[in-house]
Amino acid sequence: MDDHEDGYYYTGQTPFRKPNESLLRFHARRLISIQTLGRLEYTVEEAETKFNRALGPAELTFVGLGAVIGTGVFVLMGTAAQTQAGPSVTLSLLLGGFVSGIAALSYAEMASMIPIAGSAYTYAYASIGELAAWIIGWDLILEYLVGAATVSVGWSAYMVAFLEDAFNWKVSPQWTRTPIKWEKGALSSSGAYFNTPAFVISALVSTTIYFGIHMTAKINNYLVVFKVLVLIIVILAMIPFVKTENYHPYIPEETGGVSGMLAGASTVFFAYIGFDSISTTAQEAKEPQVNLPVGIMATIVIATILYVGISVVTVGVAHYTKLGGDSPVVDAVRLTGMHWLVVITELGALAATTSVILVLLIAQPRVFYAMANDGLIPPLFAKVHPKYKTPYVSTLISGVLCSVCGGLFPIQVLSDMSSVGTIFAYFVVNIGVIILRYTRKTVPRRFKVPGGPFLLPGIGAGSSLLLLQGARTEAIMRLLVWMGVGILIYILYGRTHSEINNPRFVVDEPMRVLHEDFSADSQDYQGYTDDDLRQQYARQLARRMEYDRPRHPRNSDYIETRPPSGFGVPDLTGCRREHRLSAAEGSFRFHDRASSDVGIEHGVGNSFDTRRKRIERVSTMPDLAGPLSGGKDESVSISSRGFHRPQTTFEPYPETAHISPRIS
Ligand code: ALA
Repeated sequence: MDDHEDGYYYTGQTPFRKPNESLLRFHARRLISIQTLGRLEYTVEEAETKFNRALGPAELTFVGLGAVIGTGVFVLMGTAAQTQAGPSVTLSLLLGGFVSGIAALSYAEMASMIPIAGSAYTYAYASIGELAAWIIGWDLILEYLVGAATVSVGWSAYMVAFLEDAFNWKVSPQWTRTPIKWEKGALSSSGAYFNTPAFVISALVSTTIYFGIHMTAKINNYLVVFKVLVLIIVILAMIPFVKTENYHPYIPEETGGVSGMLAGASTVFFAYIGFDSISTTAQEAKEPQVNLPVGIMATIVIATILYVGISVVTVGVAHYTKLGGDSPVVDAVRLTGMHWLVVITELGALAATTSVILVLLIAQPRVFYAMANDGLIPPLFAKVHPKYKTPYVSTLISGVLCSVCGGLFPIQVLSDMSSVGTIFAYFVVNIGVIILRYTRKTVPRRFKVPGGPFLLPGIGAGSSLLLLQGARTEAIMRLLVWMGVGILIYILYGRTHSEINNPRFVVDEPMRVLHEDFSADSQDYQGYTDDDLRQQYARQLARRMEYDRPRHPRNSDYIETRPPSGFGVPDLTGCRREHRLSAAEGSFRFHDRASSDVGIEHGVGNSFDTRRKRIERVSTMPDLAGPLSGGKDESVSISSRGFHRPQTTFEPYPETAHISPRIS
């Protein structure tokens, strides 16, 4: 059974240094070790019992729209128009939508194939390898956590405007603006103390999330309906006020001409960030293989249409030079003289930004959860609340960090970080699609990027690079510093803790993998001697164990068992297996069971956690178990002085003293 034949499961990786393998090669191999899809599948099974599956296609689209429509269109679209693109900000938005749309196709394919929380991080782990996965996971913090902080600053600006317009209440800017300014490549004090509203909204949203996905999904739905309605109303109401002369020149030279428009694309790109958060809810989605792609694509299409509409009327009503404020859409609406519309727009922007923060702060803990589950960050991050079924520790940590960042940093710095981080993630996902089309040919994909593996993902990866190139140099520098810190953390922690490279439980050398299928009912076996059949049976057993290995990632994923000489036993009597446990102190119980209607089946039930020094689970394979025949528990001790090689000898099982395959 090689990788292609059984593309789903077996990858032939071993966490150990192979005989004759150089140290350099060994470590390099670890960096590109990938998650088997079987193991990922298991993660889903396991999570099934922890999270609730509550989200259908409509809800997922709402999650997407919730995450997408926010500060990008309500704030940064104006900034881009004023400083970079002029009226052609619409083109910038279309371009951003195009790049995001292609990335969305790639995300959709990945999500249909690997419907597991963790988004681009998981995809990178399954396609490129551990180091890439770590880099992306670390990078996603920029997209989700820093993204949410960015949006909280946008929320703050609209809140201040709303309080003033609705209640004539002027709040001191010292408590509503960032204390830190970023000018000419250096940080300085802005004179303000703290962006309190930004801090408060993130804190409130995190608290809501803490108490459960059901409630948050509902709140998100209301917010999305409201913000979409407001956008439609604003677009329609502003059309009569459009002055065509505001569109001339369409691509102003003063702001940099065509390259200004392109630079604008990397600014408004932020407006599309977040659609991928749909894929972090994979474990809470019904039929994720179908519904994730649907939700992702619907989100991009709806958002692009609304963005084009709102940008056309905004730059049509207000001259682009007037759009540099903190709340540019409202500034344009104000020119229409309709006060009610101003207030409605502000409410719409508040709803919009709230829902973005909500979804991004739901997404972030789920990435943390996935990373902790894989051992790349401490297990604390994977804790799921027994009552609320949320990864609550991650939620708390994300909430606190987001609130503090929103309270302290200027929107420009935050949004730049978030955008470049996201563009980078898109790049990796596009490349991942190409790689997986070759390395995992046989894995079913309910959705495929049209046009073959190279065309669109290639264009997507290329245009991501183009956008990166268009980003501010300082943003790239910050990204590099961020990545540097990340790699350091990986070297110090992840490398030595990752599940796939640091198995907790290990048994013996790799099992010989056998191709022959064996079926006792098959005519092919007629005329075989009893002994032949026993041989075949042993092989089938070997194969089954290999196949099922990834279903028990904590233990049998890395159980590498060699059928010892006594394995091809005529019956269970005297079945012998050798075990080697990774060096650690403590003891564990080895529980083994045999059963089947044909004769025996193997229930691997060994899970000694060498790090925590306790047993994690004892499992049999219920799907394989037939009439049960017997079992035996043993205690085995592990010494710190190296491997201990207990010999487990099974007693005869009375009910199946003999394997008797049915041959007609
Ligand atoms: N796309 C989201 C927004 O624009 C992050 O607020």
